[in-house]
Amino acid sequence: MAGARGLLAAAALLGFLQASSSFEVKDSSGKVCIIADLTVAFSVEYKSNGQKEFAHFFLPQNATVESQSSCGNGNKSHPILVLGFGAGHSLSLNFSEHADNYQVEELVFHYNLSDATLFHNSTAGEVKKVSHKTTIQAHMGTKYRCINAKHVNMKSVNITFSNVTLEAYLTNGTFSTNKTECAEDMVSTTAIVPTTPKQTTSQVPTTSPAPTASPPNPAVGKYNVTGPNGTCVLAYMGLQLNITYQKKDQKMGLDLLNFIPQNTTSSGRCDNTSAFLNLTFEKTRVIFYFVLNASTEKYFLQGVNVSTTLPSEAKDPKFEAWNNSMSELRATVGNSYKCSAEENLQVTDKALVNVFNVQIQVFKIDGDKFGAVEECQLDENNMLIPIIVGAALAGLVLIVLIAYLIGRKRSHAGYQTI
Ligand SMILES: *[C@@H]1O[C@H](CO)[C@@H](O)[C@H](O)[C@H]1NC(C)=O
Ligand SMILES: *[C@@H]1O[C@H](CO)[C@@H](O)[C@H](O)[C@H]1NC(C)=O
Ligand SMILES: *[C@@H]1O[C@H](CO)[C@@H](O)[C@H](O)[C@H]1NC(C)=O
Ligand SMILES: *[C@@H]1O[C@H](CO)[C@@H](O)[C@H](O)[C@H]1NC(C)=O
Ligand SMILES: *[C@@H]1O[C@H](CO)[C@@H](O)[C@H](O)[C@H]1NC(C)=O
Ligand SMILES: *[C@@H]1O[C@H](CO)[C@@H](O)[C@H](O)[C@H]1NC(C)=O
Ligand SMILES: *[C@@H]1O[C@H](CO)[C@@H](O)[C@H](O)[C@H]1NC(C)=O
Ligand SMILES: *[C@@H]1O[C@H](CO)[C@@H](O)[C@H](O)[C@H]1NC(C)=O
Ligand SMILES: *[C@@H]1O[C@H](CO)[C@@H](O)[C@H](O)[C@H]1NC(C)=O
Ligand SMILES: *[C@@H]1O[C@H](CO)[C@@H](O)[C@H](O)[C@H]1NC(C)=O
Ligand SMILES: *[C@@H]1O[C@H](CO)[C@@H](O)[C@H](O)[C@H]1NC(C)=O
Ligand SMILES: *[C@@H]1O[C@H](CO)[C@@H](O)[C@H](O)[C@H]1NC(C)=O
Repeated sequence: MAGARGLLAAAALLGFLQASSSFEVKDSSGKVCIIADLTVAFSVEYKSNGQKEFAHFFLPQNATVESQSSCGNGNKSHPILVLGFGAGHSLSLNFSEHADNYQVEELVFHYNLSDATLFHNSTAGEVKKVSHKTTIQAHMGTKYRCINAKHVNMKSVNITFSNVTLEAYLTNGTFSTNKTECAEDMVSTTAIVPTTPKQTTSQVPTTSPAPTASPPNPAVGKYNVTGPNGTCVLAYMGLQLNITYQKKDQKMGLDLLNFIPQNTTSSGRCDNTSAFLNLTFEKTRVIFYFVLNASTEKYFLQGVNVSTTLPSEAKDPKFEAWNNSMSELRATVGNSYKCSAEENLQVTDKALVNVFNVQIQVFKIDGDKFGAVEECQLDENNMLIPIIVGAALAGLVLIVLIAYLIGRKRSHAGYQTI
């Protein structure tokens, strides 16, 4: 955390030095389809003579748009921006579109550890690759704007974006006038009261929105879906939505909504490898989409779609968010997934679905009852402490018992000699 903060502060200080750079991707006819204007800071962990070292550097302004960049081809391939720099390093932003949105589906970073200018005395010399999904998402026909830092943390590499303006699926060759602002910016516009211009530029964004008392945990509801062969989704859970939205006055609002089980209706459908659980509470609907991986015999939550009506102070009261590349609530077919800890399912950077005390089973459900339980990692970690304490106590008892037995034997021996 301290490292990231330091880097952030450095990025803010360097702000005027590290001007963001602009990159464009054109198709074969010369039409611009992606423009990206961004500052990117990297922090990479590597080994040097058996020691952990960190390299900190920025995407240089003279980075080049590589030939692998493309505007995509219908639904055969997606638009991609590949930025090469230094001795064989590259950062690529892989875009995809869905319904009315586009997003940076995946971020891929290749770095060449044999580049001694960045990785002093690196033991390894090969080119490494890391990749991650991102929450960089915008409405079609709008530019994505995010001035505040957005961190993407991966194994051994942290990438921090700031001062970003980008747009893909361009039809007009220039940025659209309408923009989609990231949640980070909406938070800071309310949190930072402009005092002097100097102060605002160097201020690290605070992440506390307008204070709202968090509501109590939602009540646990029981939901089921019946498929061609009987019950195919059985779910017990408390459900809460957390939506960040823009108000008419440009400030940020937060909508926290607990589903009331009595007033929630469930529907849905199942086939052999996919299942929908559709929960409707007043004007709010959440659709959970589960898939079955037949080869691994596991099912998991792949998609969530949220639609709701926001308070009237919202700029746009109709809200919809979806994410179709999730991998949550995973369990083996025939077993149920259980988690007592709260789980926050990130749909987009503006919408979270929080589930409480969840137990769920999808596809094969024998006798309409939950099968063997597969506990979530969060619960297992919580369980570990009592187990360790228990094991330590058991060990102590054993030591005392052995000591007692040895003592008894000694004193017996003593009696016999007398
Ligand atoms: C990435 O960020 C995390 C959390 O801020 C930190 O613990 C980790 O050391 C960072 N890794 C690198 C390579 O900077
Ligand atoms: C953001 O980028 C724009 C365009 O490159 C630049 O003019 C501006 O100074 C940058 N702002 C910060 C805070 O770095
Ligand atoms: C990019 O700029 C750096 C200095 O900022 C320089 O060392 C390097 O040679 C430049 N690379 C190219 C390809 O121009
Ligand atoms: C996408 O692919 C499907 C079949 O895979 C085809 O039916 C559809 O027309 C394609 N759409 C576009 C926009 O190319
Ligand atoms: C690299 O290693 C050499 C010899 O082991 C050492 O003298 C030098 O200080 C090291 N450089 C860095 C930047 O760690
Ligand atoms: C392209 O964008 C400009 C500026 O936003 C706008 O004035 C113009 O009408 C657009 N052209 C088309 C063909 O959409
Ligand atoms: C931009 O947003 C305004 C208000 O939401 C809307 O009326 C307008 O049609 C939008 N323009 C474009 C080009 O999408
Ligand atoms: C849930 O189960 C009950 C009782 O078995 C049944 O009456 C109801 O129709 C089921 N609901 C759905 C959506 O399948
Ligand atoms: C709601 O979402 C915001 C922004 O992502 C976050 O700061 C806040 O902690 C969340 N609150 C709850 C109760 O999940
Ligand atoms: C739940 O629904 C009932 C009947 O429609 C209604 O009277 C009640 O006010 C609702 N409760 C809440 C908290 O919305
Ligand atoms: C979800 O339920 C709502 C209301 O019951 C219905 O209008 C909608 O079509 C359903 N969607 C799916 C995918 O089942
Ligand atoms: C229902 O059961 C039949 C016979 O066991 C099986 O062939 C079919 O795939 C099952 N359908 C679903 C949706 O599970």
